Amino acid sequence: MPPAPGESTTTARGPNIVVVTGPEQATAGLLVREATALDAHALAHVYVSSWRAAYRGIVEDEVLERMSVERQEASYGAWFRRHPPSSFIRVAVDAGANVVGFGIAGEARAPRAERRGEVYVLYLLPQVQRRGIGTRLFASLARGLDLRGMDSMIVWALERNPARAFYERLGGRAGEQRQHPVGTRSLTEVCYAWDALEEVMVAR
Ligand SMILES: CC(C)(COP(=O)(O)OP(=O)(O)OC[C@H]1O[C@@H](n2cnc3c(N)ncnc32)[C@H](O)[C@@H]1OP(=O)(O)O)[C@@H](O)C(=O)NCCC(=O)NCCS
Repeated sequence: MPPAPGESTTTARGPNIVVVTGPEQATAGLLVREATALDAHALAHVYVSSWRAAYRGIVEDEVLERMSVERQEASYGAWFRRHPPSSFIRVAVDAGANVVGFGIAGEARAPRAERRGEVYVLYLLPQVQRRGIGTRLFASLARGLDLRGMDSMIVWALERNPARAFYERLGGRAGEQRQHPVGTRSLTEVCYAWDALEEVMVAR
C-alpha cells in the first residue's frame, strides 16, 4: 500500500520492516502514491524534462531535442492498458497535487534471478532534485517490490550520470556493466545491486 496523505514519516510494516520516508521538512506535503492512467501526461512531462537536464552532454543534443511529451504520453498510456503484472509506477506528488517525480519497478529483466526486482526508471523534475524526494520515492519502490514478493533489487545507471552517487549513497554495490545504444552512441551502464530490500526501504 502506498503511504496515505498525511501519513507520518515512519511506518511499521511487519516485524523487520520500518519505512522511514525522509526528512519531513524537505518534503513537506509530499505524497508518494501508485500512478494511474490519468498521470500519463505528467509522467511524460517529468521524463522529458528530466532527460533534457540530466543527460545534456551525455546523450546527443539531437536525441534530446527529438524527445516528445506527446509520444511519451502515448507510450505510458499503452503501459497502463497492458503491462506485466509485477510492474508498477509510483509518483511523488507535491502539496499542490503536481506530479514532480516517478519511478517504475518490477521483476529484474537482466540479470534475471528469482525474487530479484529492478527499478527500471527514476526521474524527478530538475527543480525539485536534491531535496530528499528521490530517496523517498526509491524507498517506496523498494517497498512495492517487497509487497510483490521480491527480496533484492538492481538498478542500471549510465556510467557518466553523476546521479550514480545517489545509488552509492543508498548502499548500492556497483557490479557488471553493459552497453546501451542511445541515438548513434553506445553508452556504458553500470548495475547497482542491493541484496536485501530492507537496506533501501529504510531510507537514510
Ligand atoms: C537521481 C535522482 C532520482 C535523485 O533524487 P533526488 O531527490 O535528487 O536525490 P536526494 O535529494 O534524495 O539525494 C540523496 C543523496 O544522493 C546524492 N545525490 C543525489 N543526486 C545526486 C547527483 N546528481 N550528483 C551527486 N550526488 C547526488 C547526494 O549525496 C544526496 O544527498 P545531498 O543532496 O544531501 O548531498 C534525481 O536527482 C533525478 O531525477 N536526477 C535526474 C535523472 C536521473 O539521473 N535519474 C536516474 C536515472 S538511473
